[in-house]
Amino acid sequence: MKRIAVLTSGGDSPGMNAALRAVVRCGIYHDMEVYAVHNGYEGLIDNKFERMSRRSVADILHRGGTIIKTARSERFLNPEGRKIAYANLRKLGIEGLIVIGGNGSLAGAKTLAEESGIPVMGLPGTIDNDLAYTDYTIGFDTAVNTVLEAIGNIRDTSSSHDRSTVIEVMGRHCGDIALYAGIAGGAELVLIPEADIPVEAIVDKVNEGIETGKLHNIIIRAEGFPISSQDLIDILKKGTGQDVKLVVLSYLQRGGSPTFRDRMLATDCGMLAVELLSQGITNRAIGEVGGEIVHLDLAKALETRRTLPEELFEEIKVLSM
Ligand code: F6P
Repeated sequence: MKRIAVLTSGGDSPGMNAALRAVVRCGIYHDMEVYAVHNGYEGLIDNKFERMSRRSVADILHRGGTIIKTARSERFLNPEGRKIAYANLRKLGIEGLIVIGGNGSLAGAKTLAEESGIPVMGLPGTIDNDLAYTDYTIGFDTAVNTVLEAIGNIRDTSSSHDRSTVIEVMGRHCGDIALYAGIAGGAELVLIPEADIPVEAIVDKVNEGIETGKLHNIIIRAEGFPISSQDLIDILKKGTGQDVKLVVLSYLQRGGSPTFRDRMLATDCGMLAVELLSQGITNRAIGEVGGEIVHLDLAKALETRRTLPEELFEEIKVLSM
């Protein structure tokens, strides 16, 4: 395989640049021509290719975001848009495409391979950690650490004012950012879409904390949790008589310099993607399982369903007493 392309797609995540750097440099190491596609699948349709040199990815390892930009592409969801994308890839003689993105982006890569016959590789680039085939996605660790820092700041002020605070975090339909940051941050309650909890139990938990002399109550709410943050605030104000504040971390979680873990995961996944293509192995999803970098059939990877780690819930119950 002598000519490959790489793109970043969907919501950006810290570590995407590290993965891009690994793909470009490993490709050049294997005497490949490496092209970046700007703006994700939109750029594929708009023919936005850039031939990359080893210097094109200099000084980006530590930078959040993606220097080749990303987008959510409505046009790529339609066969007409995809046909243009395939023609552009063929015109340039691209023999393999590496896609760095989340669930939807990797599903797009699978469709591209099936419809065009052009081989693909999928790297799990999203802060959501919602790709069940891998323990971690690129950007998740950095996002959780960003939330942890926010929790620390909120603890300081909440305990100064005997307040309860709801902190809303991202993750779309996945609660992992809330779950892991909640445990590591010592939150009193973690509300995630994967686990039902009656409203009464939420109010009781906060009241129990107040009665037992807790300095503050921190409730982490994943954005996919069915009760909205504003409704939750209103319910808690009414049920506890406390001054309950809301902090929405929003896009803070998408930026920042990638952590050591995300840099390593991104680099290892990027390297493996190119190594596999150089050996003629294609249409794989790459990730980390049990501390090892692995690759599996892309279609099978996307069918993987995650079971909620119940023991993590137990931890919160015990530790937040
Ligand atoms: O998929 C990553 C993510 O940050 C989600 O957690 C969030 O719900 C979504 O992207 C926001 O999408 P956008 O960046 O298009 O507003």
